[in-house]
Amino acid sequence: MADKNPSSKIMYLSIALAVVLIAVVVPFSMSGKGKSDSVSNADDVESRIAPIAKIEMQAGGGDGGVKDGKTVYNTVCAGCHGAGVLGAPKFGDKAAWAPRIGQGIATLNSHAINGIRGMPARGGAASLSDDEVKGAVEYMVNGSK
Ligand code: HEC
Repeated sequence: MADKNPSSKIMYLSIALAVVLIAVVVPFSMSGKGKSDSVSNADDVESRIAPIAKIEMQAGGGDGGVKDGKTVYNTVCAGCHGAGVLGAPKFGDKAAWAPRIGQGIATLNSHAINGIRGMPARGGAASLSDDEVKGAVEYMVNGSK
């Protein structure tokens, strides 16, 4: 009996070792499969987002994603400057724009970017770049003198 004990200990140990090995190796081989699944998922994701990326480039007007003045005016500024909301100088209203244009384009740009009185900074569209706001100012000024 005293002789059997050590050998049965070794047997239990090897069984335990085998179980541990299986527990370690099986998840690894499973995660290998999981990996190839996630790669094909990534391909799916790429093909799914591809049309969105194309739409964004179209919205950018092929200008490297920078919105031109007319687009910015129509999407952001026209809401107020189209109808003269809150006393905004209307697009094309020469009398309303003349004294403002008289301040100089740099002042107009700075007021459009930073806001002034009822005019919110960047027309409330914080994501617009300085150049996009300036483009919209230029578009409005050119259409109003
Ligand atoms: C929420 C309404 C609103 C939106 C949107 C808006 N504006 Fe205005 N804007 C105003 C008002 C009101 C004024 C007149 C402010 C004043 O002089 O009291 C004004 C004035 C201006 C002026 C003249 C500033 C000056 O110094 O006289 C410029 C330039 C201008 N806006 C540019 C823009 C541009 C560019 C956009 C779009 C990116 C835009 N605005 C969007 C309300 C708006």
